Amino acid sequence: MLGARRPCKAPVMVCIFFVNGLEFLSDVESKSRERMEEEKRPVILAVDDEEDNLAVLHGRLTRRNYEVVTVNSGAKALASLKEVAPDIVLLDVMMPGMDGYETCHKIKEISTDQFLPIILLTAKVDKDSKIKGLDTGADDYVTKPFDMDELSARIRAMLRIRRLQQELAVKEREVKRLNTELKGQYNFENIIGASETMREVFEKMEGAARITSPVIITGDSGTGKELVARGIHYASPKAGKPFVPVNCAALPADLIESELFGHKKGSFTGAVSAQEGLFKSADGGTIFLDEIGEMPTAVQAKLLRVLQEGAIRPVGGTAEVKIDVRVIAATNIDLEDAVEDGRFREDLYYRISVLSLDLPSLSHRKPDIPVLANHFIKKFNKQFSANVKGLDDSAMQAILNYDWPGNVREFQNVIERCYVYADLEWVSEKHLSLHRAKKPGRGAERQDERHTATEEISEENFPTLEVAEKNLIEKAMLLADNNKVKAAKLLGIHRSRLYKKLELYGIGL
Ligand SMILES: Nc1ncnc2c1ncn2[C@@H]1O[C@H](COP(=O)(O)OP(=O)(O)OP(=O)(O)O)[C@@H](O)[C@H]1O
Ligand SMILES: [Mg+2]
Repeated sequence: MLGARRPCKAPVMVCIFFVNGLEFLSDVESKSRERMEEEKRPVILAVDDEEDNLAVLHGRLTRRNYEVVTVNSGAKALASLKEVAPDIVLLDVMMPGMDGYETCHKIKEISTDQFLPIILLTAKVDKDSKIKGLDTGADDYVTKPFDMDELSARIRAMLRIRRLQQELAVKEREVKRLNTELKGQYNFENIIGASETMREVFEKMEGAARITSPVIITGDSGTGKELVARGIHYASPKAGKPFVPVNCAALPADLIESELFGHKKGSFTGAVSAQEGLFKSADGGTIFLDEIGEMPTAVQAKLLRVLQEGAIRPVGGTAEVKIDVRVIAATNIDLEDAVEDGRFREDLYYRISVLSLDLPSLSHRKPDIPVLANHFIKKFNKQFSANVKGLDDSAMQAILNYDWPGNVREFQNVIERCYVYADLEWVSEKHLSLHRAKKPGRGAERQDERHTATEEISEENFPTLEVAEKNLIEKAMLLADNNKVKAAKLLGIHRSRLYKKLELYGIGL
């Protein structure tokens, strides 16, 4: 008997296609999720060889707003599983032919709904039967004659757990999808380079992706240090785990330790609750310590311990917490100089430079310039639905002659800016407006820059305070060759404040 059927929809097959492959949501799982999303009544499949019991279950549970489908044997339960797509199964143990244990085992085996809960119903109350029931895969056990309130409460609890499990599975799929997307975005193919230097960089990246030792990436601002760090992470065995970027220069010195390692409640003024640090967030994956040269020496000592012991100690805590995090660090200062000056610990320097990778400035790898141009044109054509064909000879000459103080980041911005011209087909020199961004010379030219910063203002062109601030910051960055530490010094502000302003005005992004 297949009793009290609800109107049976044709089975719906839902497939989700992901970038790198096919994820398949089972027919049953998706049906049941659709139902939950629409707040429909949960469906119970009740299995019992005694029709009277089924009638009681059907009547009472229907009144409690469940949709109840009843069958009188284990074999029929298995046969109806796909069509009914229940949210929960109530299963009698003592049945002729296939008993409840065997049915339970087979349901778990054939069901494509991995979170389908099964409650066994039985008159047997001895401990061994309960253990046997749970061992065959049942999720709960209710003894007959059962109290309807208790059975209902257990059904509700099981459905709650099921909903949480389903939500978690959806989130896990989303994380997997995003990871696949990121992996695609940061695979080596999207790191462009045709020069001999970049060929060596790729070789080193491949090596670094094979192992999980610390890596130090050096290079001027905008040379691609973070891109390379992400590329290594997403090609490494840690790819499925988090990549957590941290800018050491942007974190205030008094907070950096707690940001990195977390803190206990009340460990300092303002620590109103305990907080996990960034190392913990990166557990299993990679932490990218950008501008590591700016890390205060006290924190450097703690970092060394983390690298040596594989454990962190939150601020205010006494116990160490084991973690498994790969460290990739980057810097645009000369760390060896910093070691000599006593600003950077020598032992830490050796520990983080197991593998080192240097990214030369763009003007030192000219063969990369035309290929980068093609790459960015393709990228922005797609992003802005445009059809720019490329750079004409004048533009190509200009980009090869320019010295690119802001490196690849500046180059990318220059190409992006060309797209403001309507119906642009070929980029020519005039579209690039390189003269505005040209790196100032070392002597008189630089003096001129300082001069114009203050003297060219009249009543007509008097800027707002905001515009003046933005201009001044841009000017400082230009004079400091995009070195943020130098620019902050020129402006007389702390570098963490400069970082906030750069972000606010979108400078150098
Ligand atoms: N070889 C490359 N191929 C493609 N894009 C690149 C390459 N190098 C850098 N870029 C792009 O240039 C921009 C700047 O790169 P990135 O942020 O990695 O530089 P950085 O060295 O970390 O700079 P900073 O020192 O200022 O933090 C990013 O948008 C990045 O995608
Ligand atoms: Mg960076």
